Amino acid sequence: MTSLLHVVGARPNFMKVAPVLHAGERVPGMPQFLVHTGQHYDAAMSDRFFSDLGLPAPDVNLGVGSASHAVQTARIMLEFEPVLDRFRPDWVVVYGDVNSTVACALVASKKGIRVAHVEAGLRSRDRTMPEEINRLLTDQLADLCLTPSRDGDANLLAEGIPGERIRFVGNVMVDTLLRLREQARALDVASVQGVAGRPYAFCTFHRPSNVDRAETLAEILGALDDLAATMPVIFPIHPRTRQRIEEFGLGDLARRVTLLEPLSYLETISLVDGCALVLTDSGGLQEETTVLGVPCLTARANTERPVTVTEGTNRLIPSQREGIGLAIAEVLERRARGAFHPSRPEGWDGHAGERIIGILAGD
Ligand code: UD1
Repeated sequence: MTSLLHVVGARPNFMKVAPVLHAGERVPGMPQFLVHTGQHYDAAMSDRFFSDLGLPAPDVNLGVGSASHAVQTARIMLEFEPVLDRFRPDWVVVYGDVNSTVACALVASKKGIRVAHVEAGLRSRDRTMPEEINRLLTDQLADLCLTPSRDGDANLLAEGIPGERIRFVGNVMVDTLLRLREQARALDVASVQGVAGRPYAFCTFHRPSNVDRAETLAEILGALDDLAATMPVIFPIHPRTRQRIEEFGLGDLARRVTLLEPLSYLETISLVDGCALVLTDSGGLQEETTVLGVPCLTARANTERPVTVTEGTNRLIPSQREGIGLAIAEVLERRARGAFHPSRPEGWDGHAGERIIGILAGD
């Protein structure tokens, strides 16, 4: 029987592995192993996601922690190789675009173990993003590129990846969202935060391009504070962003904003589902807001998820105070006119995990 070894490391990986692992559990006798690289390690960034998503404890945690890109990637590779020797899976399944994804794909392919990449083919065409480098390399290495949207297939073909290595399967993040949406709603985190029945904004920012330069981070915090004069603004802060706010001494700029510790998956979806708009630089939130029909403003110059703009509720905006303010005013006016609706791009139907297992188990 085909055996699978799934690799996760950072927060956005956990929502992606869950539907694949759960679909695999329904195949009698198929061995599956779960390896956590430990790229994310805080309880709020990792353990709480495992419990929200019903994930089993990992078989192995490599415990690599934070470091520079080179050190972190190298540590993952060093720690992962003996794990492959121990489990000898038929497939290593890697997810998304984080450092753990490319590190483990490289180790597996050099050991002659087949690699399947879930969420293959996405491209921002911006090589200043570490994730874009990770995507390009992982897809070149993968024996099977499993794409979430048709633009992914086209990107891979354009890079010379043979068609027989590409399979369109749809979006696994959406599997998780559809499975847990009602459970998230029932939490009613808006009441806990004291914003129930009122329009409020939800925001997250953690990309190096937005938070690692004091000037840019100041523009964003200023815009959020402006908005907070008119409605509650809830901002769960990623550890990277919190460190930068402290380092740059920018805490006072966002005085009116409700700054929270990172939230769990269910708490996040609960708040996103009920908010008036999302302001973000996250990849996953661009997709989740598309499915939920929530207006989303993404402070980035590009997106690797173009269907969220062409078919969904997403719009790209500058990381600049005045531009963000104008975009917010425009989006709230369109929302008042009822312009935003839930949308389901092809394959965003809650069954992507089953399709992936169908391909891997049938191999
Ligand atoms: C990583 C991913 C990014 C993803 C993001 C989601 C890469 C290249 N980047 O970025 O694609 O969108 O995760 O969160 O893989 N830290 C903690 N606790 C943790 C983890 C990190 O305090 O559990 C702090 C550390 O100081 C670390 C910093 O956050 O230096 C950044 O963490 P890191 O994993 O390097 O990158 P992310 O910004 O989280």
